[in-house]
Amino acid sequence: MKLTQLIYVSHLVNEDESMIAAILESAVRRNKQNGITGMLLYAPGEFIQVLEGDEAAVQETYDRIFLDQRHSYVTCLLHEAASERHFPQWNMGYKALRRHDIEKLTRIGPLFRYRPGEPFEGIGPGDALDMLMLFNK
Ligand SMILES: Cc1cc2nc3c(=O)[nH]c(=O)nc-3n(C[C@H](O)[C@H](O)[C@H](O)COP(=O)(O)O)c2cc1C
Repeated sequence: MKLTQLIYVSHLVNEDESMIAAILESAVRRNKQNGITGMLLYAPGEFIQVLEGDEAAVQETYDRIFLDQRHSYVTCLLHEAASERHFPQWNMGYKALRRHDIEKLTRIGPLFRYRPGEPFEGIGPGDALDMLMLFNK
């Protein structure tokens, strides 16, 4: 197996938080079947997710997620080989943050609002992983 890690950000369509339970249900169910682990963070209106697993399974999962109409501005921040899983305990961990939690993250919080083509200003894709690990409790 070629272990791969992929991190993307996206924007919840219509800020309709009632859709999140169904998203999580299918994420956990499908990831169990596909050997995917990871973590999904939600800050009002925005997602950051890490997927880890076999290269082909991660790509197939991301392709499916990318086309999902429930979110938009789906932007891959990082896609690379990994030597170990950082979230082996979660087929998909989830944490909802409040605006207040994000505001405290003055440097890396803006990653949540990252849009395609924008330059990273003082933050890099590796910071996204640090943030996901910070809330992995
Ligand atoms: C923010 C977000 C995160 C998602 N995460 C996953 C995921 O980790 N794994 C997955 O298979 N599907 C995930 N999905 C759902 C897929 O886009 C897709 O709806 C689902 O895999 C289809 O499975 P089903 O038809 O069997 O329910 C996610 C969707 C959204 C909007």
